[in-house]
Amino acid sequence: MPENEFTHQGTPFLPGKSQDTAVVWLIGSGKVGKAFLKMLDPGRHFLRGVMNSRKMLINTGGIQNEKAAALLESTGSPSDLRVFLSKMAEDPARRKICVDCTASTEIAMRHREILSAGVHLVTANKIGLAGDYNYYRSLKAACREMHVRYRYETTVGAALPVISSIRRLLSAGDRISRIEAVPSGTLSYLFNQLSVENPFSRVIRSARDKGYTEPDPRQDLQGMDAARKALIMARETGHGLEMQDAVPPQIISEGARRAADTETFLHMLEKDDDKWGKRMQELKEAGKRLRYIATVAKGGIRIGLRECTPEHPFYHLSGTENIFAIYSEQFAEASLVIRGAGAGAELTASGVLADLMEICECT
Ligand SMILES: NC(=O)c1ccc[n+]([C@@H]2O[C@H](COP(=O)([O-])OP(=O)(O)OC[C@H]3O[C@@H](n4cnc5c(N)ncnc54)[C@H](OP(=O)(O)O)[C@@H]3O)[C@@H](O)[C@H]2O)c1
Repeated sequence: MPENEFTHQGTPFLPGKSQDTAVVWLIGSGKVGKAFLKMLDPGRHFLRGVMNSRKMLINTGGIQNEKAAALLESTGSPSDLRVFLSKMAEDPARRKICVDCTASTEIAMRHREILSAGVHLVTANKIGLAGDYNYYRSLKAACREMHVRYRYETTVGAALPVISSIRRLLSAGDRISRIEAVPSGTLSYLFNQLSVENPFSRVIRSARDKGYTEPDPRQDLQGMDAARKALIMARETGHGLEMQDAVPPQIISEGARRAADTETFLHMLEKDDDKWGKRMQELKEAGKRLRYIATVAKGGIRIGLRECTPEHPFYHLSGTENIFAIYSEQFAEASLVIRGAGAGAELTASGVLADLMEICECT
């Protein structure tokens, strides 16, 4: 083995107490990344590197997970993705796992390189998986070629087992004909909270403050988040669709969409408060609720706002709840329904950790 900082006179540095320790390299120390760091178990997970868009910290001797976010800010060096990725690739640990807790295109476009370097990858970042279909296929090919795992359960339903359920059905030879879903926790929250008394702009601010929205709430409101989730589900069920096949309806004005920054955008939403208040009042009087529904089927992806009556299973959602109804040969009459909270940094971090643990169990 060539001499580098991971070796001492040719002796490999063995992290933790045993060969079974997972060596973690985290990219993204925002809401989800910070919650994830707190959940790591120092007995089983050895944190070797952490970076955000500004700083990075690499310590071959390990970084204390509880203090990592603060240490990164106080002692980190300027971020250099190239250096971070090459140090990770050089890490001689048997089981090294990169965790992407960013919403960055730059990082998503390095997923193939990370997998090709023999590093397992857990991502909450959906941009790569919902990018060009050829890129999606190349990610899968890199996994097969390098015998590494790529886990991304949280890209669809936060901590809900959606991707794993799809995989289980398909691996047993079942055929999925359709998935109907309310896949956006933010939009679920919006239409559960919205009323004359609780105007549109205020609900979005509170969703943002509670950490339910994407870093830029426009991603949710423009339907990009729901479209990406629908596209990932479609691809997982074997449909080679592209982003232009998942066209979401526009629920915010063009002016708000084009706002220069998030604060201006939130301010511009106030213009639509009365319009939404009136619509919600009419729906309330008609005994209906509004739901932002994505349908994935052989014919493609449909995304739209639907008025649901109490007989519809999606009517009864509350808070940030997501719901996924999977129809297949085995679940033809009664669909397989997965329902639960679909947003929140802690919740998402627990899903990221579950993906990491799954890799630990099977490698
Ligand atoms: N929050 C939720 O409820 C939820 C639910 C499901 C999935 N997710 C997904 O989880 C991911 C993270 O969400 P979040 O709420 O934690 O976002 P966030 O608070 O904005 O954190 C994003 C982190 O990524 C870092 N980052 C951005 N660009 C980077 C780059 N080029 N290189 C390195 N680091 C970079 C940021 O660095 P700085 O600190 O320097 O800005 C920040 O630390 C997103 O993909 C989101 O879709 C979130």
